[in-house]
Amino acid sequence: MPEPKIKVRGLSKHFAVKSRRFTAIDNIDLDIRGGEFFCIVGPSGCGKTTLLRILAGLEQQDSGRFDIAAGEGADRGRSAAPQNSMVFQEQSIFPWMTVRDNVAFGLKARGIGKTERYAVADRFIDKVGLSGFASALPHQLSGGMKQRVSIARAFANDPEILLMDEPFAALDEQTKLILQVELLRIWEETRKSVLYVTHSIDEAIVLADRIMIMSARPGRIKEIIDVSAVFPRPRRVESVKSSAQYGELFGRVWSQLRDEVATAAASANEAGAQREGGGKS
Ligand SMILES: Nc1ncnc2c1ncn2[C@@H]1O[C@H](COP(=O)(O)OP(=O)(O)OP(=O)(O)O)[C@@H](O)[C@H]1O
Ligand SMILES: [Mg+2]
Repeated sequence: MPEPKIKVRGLSKHFAVKSRRFTAIDNIDLDIRGGEFFCIVGPSGCGKTTLLRILAGLEQQDSGRFDIAAGEGADRGRSAAPQNSMVFQEQSIFPWMTVRDNVAFGLKARGIGKTERYAVADRFIDKVGLSGFASALPHQLSGGMKQRVSIARAFANDPEILLMDEPFAALDEQTKLILQVELLRIWEETRKSVLYVTHSIDEAIVLADRIMIMSARPGRIKEIIDVSAVFPRPRRVESVKSSAQYGELFGRVWSQLRDEVATAAASANEAGAQREGGGKS
């Protein structure tokens, strides 16, 4: 077995709210292979974003560790590859920069000259279907087009791994479908390891090699389901969705997730009731 690209051991994170400490993620052990598309599903508040933010270095874990292996590209000379690129749910492109400058932003930060970074940016702008919009400003784009810019930027950075937190959640169904197909195509060309958080079981099945289901708070790994064993690559989204195995897989994921969603909803109600009660006294 080759060394995993991402190795997570005993990762835990606590938060304190009004001096009450609670565990957001609890003792996560995980190995992600190089080039793997790994989806994470779980009820709201189970720690999915927290896990991604820790791996992105935006948040510090309380215990445990993780390691992201350096790839062959690590000695690409003057501009070392970044460890990760994160794509967020909400639009995170700079409104005052053109599409091209947004996509080239990470490369500029690494000191890559204009001609080279624009050449890379234009290649990825093309890949996400935005050629013709390189000089446009974000306010001239639709929501789906803005998310395309975020995706182009993430890939243009050529990071060791990609962290994607519900990148298509705010989009309509048809745009989402088109972007899923595009994302799969770009990923198949680049074969980055991707950690992808979604609330959509459908999206997870279409995209993932494996799906990790997290439990309601404290977030733990409940089960990991191997999708590639059922749907090998390369995949056609339409044929995945119309196959008999799709329904079976959907049922398997949902049967694991259902209880966790109910638990999370019940504890949210309880917390709300406590807050209301506290307000009256
Ligand atoms: N900076 C913080 N301070 C206090 N609590 C936090 C902080 N960040 C997250 N939390 C809490 O930690 C828990 C996990 O949050 P997180 O954002 O990781 O959940 P999530 O699984 O991404 O949820 P969602 O699906 O709604 O995006 C939640 O209860 C949240 O309120
Ligand atoms: Mg989240």
